[in-house]
Amino acid sequence: MGERVVRLADLDEVRPLQLAVLRPDGPIPGDAPPPPEAVHVGAFEDDVAIGAATVVPAPWPGPGALPLPTWQLRSMVVRADLRRTGVGALVLRLAEDTAAGRGAAALWANARVGALGFYVRAGWTVVGEEWDKPFVGPHRWVTLTVDPDARRPPRPTLP
Ligand SMILES: CC(C)(COP(=O)(O)OP(=O)(O)OC[C@H]1O[C@@H](n2cnc3c(N)ncnc32)[C@H](O)[C@@H]1OP(=O)(O)O)[C@@H](O)C(=O)NCCC(=O)NCCS
Repeated sequence: MGERVVRLADLDEVRPLQLAVLRPDGPIPGDAPPPPEAVHVGAFEDDVAIGAATVVPAPWPGPGALPLPTWQLRSMVVRADLRRTGVGALVLRLAEDTAAGRGAAALWANARVGALGFYVRAGWTVVGEEWDKPFVGPHRWVTLTVDPDARRPPRPTLP
């Protein structure tokens, strides 16, 4: 095994892996690139991306209320041959901490039903009924309320 690191990353470093895992047959209607304010996390082995996730401020679309502001976790992936080795948990943790450090009070994600156990293992809560995402399959929402102690005020803007 080469040297592994988990760190913030540029879109270009993580997007190819995210698309290869989540869109093996190419884009689907409604796909859009992440907005500029999105923050990306990557796991790298010898500088090759092996895991990734993206967090971005986004309103909660599900039932009930979450503490505000809410951030969405998107495009959580691990390269297929390295799954169940702990990479995803490390990426998810840094993604959570990154959103919390930027002021998120809660995170949410559209979770594929096959991945629900991963989120539950990480302390997330499954919310609402199952729903179908066209061209992808059945999903549930998952949420995580951020520990207030983990939140930091937004970095002040320099005059
Ligand atoms: C979901 C995914 C990111 C998990 O990454 P991973 O690196 O395999 O996860 P880890 O090895 O860090 O697993 C962490 C824990 O979650 C558990 N876990 C992982 N995937 C799971 C799953 N699909 N179902 C149930 N539990 C799961 C592991 O057993 C482990 O538990 P442990 O701490 O008791 O050992 C990865 O399987 C993946 O990329 N899947 C395809 C893309 C996808 O579906 N992404 C999610 C979109 S919502």
